[in-house]
Amino acid sequence: MKFNTRYTEYNNYKKDLEDRAFCGYDTSFGRMISSGICGTDEHVLKGELVVNYPLIPGHEGAGIVESVGDGVCAVKPENGQCDACLYPKGNFCDKQDVLPCSGLMLDGTSRFSCRGRTIYHSFRTSTFTEYTVVPEIAVVKIDDAAPMDKVCLISCGVPTGYGAAVNSAKNSYLVTPGSTCVVFGLGGVGSAIVMGCKASGASRIIGVDINEEKFPRAKALGVTDCLNPNKLQKPVHEVVKEMTGVGVHFAFEAIGRVDTMDAAWNSCNDSYGVCLIVGLAPSDAQLCLEAAKIVSGKTLKGVCLGDYKTRDCIPQIVTDYLQNKINIDPLVTHQLPFNKLDEALELYHSGKVIRCVLLF
Ligand code: APR
Ligand code: ZN
Repeated sequence: MKFNTRYTEYNNYKKDLEDRAFCGYDTSFGRMISSGICGTDEHVLKGELVVNYPLIPGHEGAGIVESVGDGVCAVKPENGQCDACLYPKGNFCDKQDVLPCSGLMLDGTSRFSCRGRTIYHSFRTSTFTEYTVVPEIAVVKIDDAAPMDKVCLISCGVPTGYGAAVNSAKNSYLVTPGSTCVVFGLGGVGSAIVMGCKASGASRIIGVDINEEKFPRAKALGVTDCLNPNKLQKPVHEVVKEMTGVGVHFAFEAIGRVDTMDAAWNSCNDSYGVCLIVGLAPSDAQLCLEAAKIVSGKTLKGVCLGDYKTRDCIPQIVTDYLQNKINIDPLVTHQLPFNKLDEALELYHSGKVIRCVLLF
């Protein structure tokens, strides 16, 4: 299996990873405490995104900064340098190194090597490692009281999903009390979307997943109806339209597949429905929509990290969690030591987890 091959390769490098990571200009050298395994890591390991291999995966981490390079001045409020950071509603910072992912730091070098061979970073983070080097823009200081074995999820899954419902949708896209919603994919991100829809007072939240093991936890979080597309006699969007009569106000895609993006789009109300694409599709995939339908008034919106300006918002979400304004505990269904990464990945593939957190 591609995944295991890549992983074995990575593991061999990791075993030999000498303490070669170093901290340079504008970088922080950090000891990882915890890391989630996110659907995006799976995309990386399956070879679906443009990245350089071998790399150290993982981007949903919490840790302790042990040293900083020249030029790091604690925590600046925002990156403030690229167009997306300067624009009030933008958040897709140039420096995140996501689409495509060069695997290099801002100065064009990698800080990991093994036996003379370069090992690449992922998304300027790389959290499946005891120590990492990241640029200053990839770190935020959080409340000292935060439970480190859980708040790693607030680096990606929680803001990505929760924010898609409560934040991205600011202005006309906001999930409002009484809204009807459908969420495609009930993994870590989809579950956080469900929490956001519930918190916003949605009257109906339809959860769609091919793995029915996801249904009981999704219902506990607020899903009112569960659908397994593989067990339906007709396309899932037709069933959603029938269930709601007119299509949903909000459809979220949190899988990263074009067929489910299409289904989400077609589940929306033709006149005022909003389709929010949260899942990351394979790099070479094209989305093909019925063009004439767009004029009827519905909206297609992409959402990265819940549209949050993450360096401002992540510390606030951590504080909100500490103040019981948002509860991320139900998302952390499993925890395993980092040396059981194989087992954690098996659990991830089995679908028995929402998130399994690796502990260092
Ligand atoms: N139809 C319905 N559900 C599906 C399908 C499908 N064809 N294929 C997979 N799923 C479900 C899985 O069973 C799983 O419950 O989608 C869910 C994906 O969840 P995770 O693997 O936990 O991934 P997650 O971390 O939630 O990320 C989801 O969001 O940020 C993006 O890149 C990320 O594309 C990824 C997506
Ligand atoms: Zn992620």
